[in-house]
Amino acid sequence: MDRQAEILLQAAKDAMEKAYAPYSSFKVGAAVLTEDGRIFGGCNIENASYGATICAERTAIFNAVSCGYRKIVKIAVVCSSGHYAYPCGICRQVMSEFMDGTSKESLIILEDCEKGILEMNINEMLPYAFSGKDIENG
Ligand code: THU
Repeated sequence: MDRQAEILLQAAKDAMEKAYAPYSSFKVGAAVLTEDGRIFGGCNIENASYGATICAERTAIFNAVSCGYRKIVKIAVVCSSGHYAYPCGICRQVMSEFMDGTSKESLIILEDCEKGILEMNINEMLPYAFSGKDIENG
């Protein structure tokens, strides 16, 4: 594993420690890397009104965007099961807004305690994404 992926996965694990998941007990952590090397973490935050829950990936991305960032180079995601934390559909859609699917550097990094690291870009994770271009053509 390269050093950058290792650092980002560790930041995701640190963020996972902050998860608020009293209903599912399924903790998720994410960490995003910006173009200038900053890292923003996020965890899942559940709610008694289940639909108000937010996933770790969106917490991390919105954390970065709230600080003025618009491009995310990498995102690492981990979960308390120790297996791959495959992002949900809504999080994939949000990633596609801020990640470049054509750049080799732009990766989603997942880790499984038995299978190791899995890296892919957003085009692989969400083919045929809805984007701003679709609105322009509407
Ligand atoms: N969850 C995430 O944080 N990310 C995902 O991509 C999928 C699901 C969280 C939401 C909820 O707190 C828990 O996992 C169970 O669905």
